Amino acid sequence: MSFENQAAWQPGPRADLEIKTAPQYIPEAGEILIKNQAVSIQPFDARIRAEAYVNVPYPFILGSTIAGTVEVVGPDVTAFKVGDRVVSDTPTYAHKESTKWGGWQKYVVSKAATTAEIGHADFDQAVALPFALLTAVAALHLYLGVEKLGEGLAKEGEKVLIWGAGGSVGGYAVQYAKSVGYSVIATASPRGFERLKELGASQVLDYRSQDVISQLKSLGPFKYAMTASGDGASQLAIAEILQPVGGKFASTLGGDVDIPSNVERVYGPFSQATQKLQFKDFADWWYRQYLPKVIKENLVEPTPVEKRAGGLAAIQRAADDIATGVAKKKLVLNPQE
Ligand SMILES: NC(=O)c1ccc[n+]([C@@H]2O[C@H](COP(=O)([O-])OP(=O)(O)OC[C@H]3O[C@@H](n4cnc5c(N)ncnc54)[C@H](OP(=O)(O)O)[C@@H]3O)[C@@H](O)[C@H]2O)c1
Repeated sequence: MSFENQAAWQPGPRADLEIKTAPQYIPEAGEILIKNQAVSIQPFDARIRAEAYVNVPYPFILGSTIAGTVEVVGPDVTAFKVGDRVVSDTPTYAHKESTKWGGWQKYVVSKAATTAEIGHADFDQAVALPFALLTAVAALHLYLGVEKLGEGLAKEGEKVLIWGAGGSVGGYAVQYAKSVGYSVIATASPRGFERLKELGASQVLDYRSQDVISQLKSLGPFKYAMTASGDGASQLAIAEILQPVGGKFASTLGGDVDIPSNVERVYGPFSQATQKLQFKDFADWWYRQYLPKVIKENLVEPTPVEKRAGGLAAIQRAADDIATGVAKKKLVLNPQE
């Protein structure tokens, strides 16, 4: 099969994107070629584009969550057939040696093992979900030990704290913790209070208020805690809330933060969890059961989506709007435009 491929290439660190021809890839064993009809821009992608936040070999094609139709299946792939509508997480940042995984192009290779079938769901809605939802669920379940949905529930009255829950990861973390039975306390800016209560938080506090730490201490103890914003101030705040007993919390960001010795900060590439062999069973559950069900049955309230026109040529502006905080919604583009 022959097709013309184009990509938004990043030629060097912090350089502007260039729209140019890209290779016509042939999927190998375990892989599929997807006609990319929706890509969501993540803060992670945007920071690599603008700040060279992670080392990548240039010229490179960024982006790792896409939705579209299966064009070609690799030699041994049985889970998908040509024409299937899918959403996929590509190993762009785990296998940086090839540009075939990059989401900012028209035709993308992905692994069948990290692809989910989405039925008739809208590509734009489907593509907005997986990265941030996986970050939240992996942090809570795989890294902290919160129950897996369908395999256990919290005990009556047990509490989870989600700090900085106003964004995408935070909203999903609130919903996941609630779905397995926890009473969820969140912090956010006041404009997000109502939405977070609708998502299941029993109380939402302003993380900027003077007495937020003492208020949260009196609302605890928390069986699990996570900062979804990941900033250093939030890490120190949670470490303080966990005193005097100590404990552990998950953070979406690392950084050089002076955490007390009785507190463990759990930080990792949560969004990439399904690319790791050690989490293969989780990945099977995620792509074959949980994610298709969530998407087809609207099981979680998605982060509000903003569709941007302009295809590949509009990605640079969209990524900059994410990196600078101008965009308040999850930005989605169609590379075929
Ligand atoms: N480790 C990983 O695998 C992983 C994966 C995905 C994302 N991340 C990181 O996780 C963070 C959140 O990602 P996202 O996709 O949810 O971003 P997002 O949707 O853009 O959300 C950002 C939200 O964080 C809140 N926030 C910002 N600064 C804050 C602060 N100082 N204190 C408390 N809350 C603050 C804001 O909420 P208010 O409007 O309420 O102020 C903002 O809306 C980003 O830094 C991202 O790079 C890490």
